[in-house]
Amino acid sequence: MGSINAVVDLAIEDGIAVLTVDNPPVNALSADVRAGLDDGIRRAGQDPKVEAVVIWCAGRTFIAGADITEFGKPPRDPSLPALLDTIEACPKPVVAAIHGTALGGGLETALASNWRIAAPTAKMGLPEVKLGLLPGAGGTQRLPRLVGVQPALEMITSGTPVGAKQALAMGLVDEIAEGDLKEAALAFARRAVSEGRPLRKIRDLKVDATPEVFAEFRKANARKFRGFEAPEACIQAVEAAVSLPVDEGLKRERELFMKLVSGDQSRAQRHVFFAEREVARIPDIAADTPTLPVAKAGVVGAGTMGGGIAMNFLNAGIPTTIVETQQAALDRGVATIRKNYESTAKKGRMTQEDVEKRMALLTPSLALEDLADCDLVIEAVFELMEVKKEVFGKLDRIVKPGAILATNTSYLDVNEIAASTSRPELVVGLHFFSPANVMKLLEVVRGKETSKPVVATAMKLGKTLGKVAVQVGVCHGFVGNRMLAARQREAQKLLVEGAMPWDVDRVLLDFGFPMGPFAMGDLAGLDLGWKKETSTSSTIREILNEMDRRGQKTGAGFYDYDENRKASPSPVVEKVILDFAAKQGVERRQISDQEILERCLYPMVNEGAKILEEGVALRSSDIDIVWIYGYGWPVYRGGLMFWADLVGPAVIAERMHDFQARFGDDFKVSPLLDRLAKDGGKFADLK
Ligand code: 3HC
Ligand code: NAI
Repeated sequence: MGSINAVVDLAIEDGIAVLTVDNPPVNALSADVRAGLDDGIRRAGQDPKVEAVVIWCAGRTFIAGADITEFGKPPRDPSLPALLDTIEACPKPVVAAIHGTALGGGLETALASNWRIAAPTAKMGLPEVKLGLLPGAGGTQRLPRLVGVQPALEMITSGTPVGAKQALAMGLVDEIAEGDLKEAALAFARRAVSEGRPLRKIRDLKVDATPEVFAEFRKANARKFRGFEAPEACIQAVEAAVSLPVDEGLKRERELFMKLVSGDQSRAQRHVFFAEREVARIPDIAADTPTLPVAKAGVVGAGTMGGGIAMNFLNAGIPTTIVETQQAALDRGVATIRKNYESTAKKGRMTQEDVEKRMALLTPSLALEDLADCDLVIEAVFELMEVKKEVFGKLDRIVKPGAILATNTSYLDVNEIAASTSRPELVVGLHFFSPANVMKLLEVVRGKETSKPVVATAMKLGKTLGKVAVQVGVCHGFVGNRMLAARQREAQKLLVEGAMPWDVDRVLLDFGFPMGPFAMGDLAGLDLGWKKETSTSSTIREILNEMDRRGQKTGAGFYDYDENRKASPSPVVEKVILDFAAKQGVERRQISDQEILERCLYPMVNEGAKILEEGVALRSSDIDIVWIYGYGWPVYRGGLMFWADLVGPAVIAERMHDFQARFGDDFKVSPLLDRLAKDGGKFADLK
C-alpha cells in the first residue's frame, strides 16, 4: 500500500522525491496509477523539501504501457496525456529510472520526464502499432524530437523495442546505470540539482525532415504495412511532429489515436494480444502441474519437417539426435539444416560461430537405438499409419521409460498411434507447421490417454522453442488442417463453376492473406500425396500433375513461372479448367469476388463451430491463434472466429442456407452456428 494510493507511493529520500509505481504484474498505467502519479508529481512540485523527482517502479519492470483492458471502456481522469503534461510542467528535475521494459505509455512517461536512466538489461519501445494503435500520449511528437525522424519512424511503426546500449547510442536514454539503478537515478537527480542544470524538455527540441523522408519510408515498407491502418497513422503523426507546433502536433496525434482505438482493426489486434495469453490456460490442467524435463531430444525422419523441427531444438540449445533409415537421406537432411543456418548467417542475422554451435548440438544417426536416453522423441516420418505404428512400437521398446513420444502427424489418429505403445499416457501430438523452423504455431494434440503433465510439458516446450502452443483434440486434421480442407474444397469447386485460380487468389490476397490457395499449392508442390500410378485425371490438380505442372519446382503449376519465379496467369491452365468443366457438363458462370470470399471462408467458420461443439478446440480465440500463426490469417482481422463474430453468425448462417439450397450439403449449417444465429450470440461469448 503506497502513501498516495494502493498502487503509488511517495517517499522523500534526502531531498529527492521517489515516486514508486507498484501495480503488478507489469505496472500498467491504470486509472489509479495515473491518478497516483499525477498527485505525487504535484505534491513533490509544491513541497519545498523536495528538490527533484525520481519515477521508479517496483517489481520486474518499469511501466509496460497503458492498461489495455481499459481501452473501449469509459475514460477516467486523469487521462495519460494530462498526466504527462503534469510531469513535463513539474518545476523540478524529473528522472525516470527504467528497468525491465518501458513500453508504450511507459516510455511516453519517460519521454515526458527530463532525463532517463536505464538498467543495462532494460528495453524500451513503442509497441502500440502491434495493437493497431499509435503512441497516443506524445510518443510520436517527443521521440522524433529526441532521436530524429528516421529512427523514430522505425521504432514507432515496427513496435520493436531497443536495448539500453542502443538507446544510449541513439540518445533515447542519458545514462546506463552500472550498479544499483535506483541509487544511480538518485545520484543523477542530485547532480542535476547541484549543477543547476536547466530542465531539459523534449517538447522544446527541434525536429526536421524533408517530405521525401516520409515518402521513401512509405515506399520501402509498403509490403509490410499492406492492409494495416495503424502504420500509416503513425507516419502521419510523425509528419505532424515536423510540420506543426508541438501542442498542435499532440492534438493531431490524439485525434489519430482516438480514431484507431475505436476501430475494428485495433479491437482485433487487442483481441489477439489477450487470445495469445489465454491460449496457455487449460481449464483442467492447473498452472502448477509438474512438467517433465526436456534436456535431450530425438527426431525421427530428416525430411521437410524433421529437419525444421530439429532446428527448433538446436536454437533452444537442446542437444538433438536425428535418425533416418538411409545414409543419403540423413546427409541430405543435415545438409539442409546447415544450409538454412548458413543462409541466416549470410544475411547477418547469426554469426558463423552460432552456426557451428548449433550444428555441434546435432547428432545424426541411422539407429533408433541412439534415441534411448532422450527425454522426448518426435516422429516425422511418412504420413502412413502402418509406418507410424511400426516406428512407435520400436521407440517404445528402445527409449527410456518415462520419456515422451510425440508425433508430428498432420491428420492421423493420435489415439491409434498411442495404442501401439505400452505408454499411451506419454504419447502426444506435436504438430509443427511448415517451414517448422519459421512458423510459430504448434498444435499440441491431446490424446484420450495423454497425461496432464505431458500436456503441460508440451505447452511449456512450445514456449521454450519460441512457438505459440495451442491444445487441440484428436480428429482428422486437428483444428488448422481440418478447417483448411473446407476452404480447399470450395476453392477447387469455384474453378469448375466459373472462377480462375488467379481470381480466387486475388480475393484472398486482398482480404489480407499472404497468398491465395493456388499460389500456396504451387509453392508447396502440387504433387504432395500424389502418385503417378494411381492418378486418373479426376481433378484439375491431378491433371496438372500428369502434365508435369507440379508447382514452382517444375516452373509451372496453377500459374506459369519465369526464371525469377514470378507467377503469371496460365492460358494452358485456363484451357485445362474449361475442358474439365465441359467434361463435367458444368455451364460456367460469372462468380463475384464477394461470392468467392464467402464460399471460401464461411464453410471454415462452420467447421470451426463444429470443432467447438466437439470440444476439439477449447475456445474460439484458440482457433483464431491457430489461423494467425499457422496460416497467415491477417492479424488486423483478429482471427477467423473473431472475424465471424464481426460479420455476425446470423449473416453467415443465412448465406450458408442459401448456398446449401444451391450447392448441397457441404454448406449444412452446424447446430452451434445455427443456435448462435437464432439467439444473436457470438462465438467469443461461449463458455
Ligand atoms: N495492460 C494490461 N495488461 C497487461 C499489459 C497492459 N499493457 N501488458 C501485460 N499485461 C498483462 C498480460 O495480459 C498478462 O496477464 P495474465 O497474466 O492475466 O495473462 C500479464 O500482464 C503478464 O504479461 P505477459 O504474460 O505478456 O508477461 P511477459 O513478461 O511475457 O511480457 C510485457 C511482459 C513485455 C510487458 C508484455 O506483457 C507486453 O508486451 N505487454 C504489452 C505492452 C504494450 O503493448 N504496451 C503498450 C500499450 S498501449 C499504450 O501504451 C497506449 C499509449 O500510447 C496511449
Ligand atoms: P518427408 O517425406 O519430407 O520426410 C519424411 C522422412 O522420414 C523421409 O526423409 C524418410 O526417409 C524418413 N523416414 C521414413 N520412414 C522412416 C523411419 N522408419 N525411420 C526414420 N526415418 C524415416 O515428409 P514431411 O513432409 O517431412 O512429413 C513428415 C510428417 O510430418 C508427416 O507425418 C506429415 O504429415 C507431417 N507434416 C508435414 C507438413 C508439411 O507441410 N510437409 C506439415 C506438418 C506435418
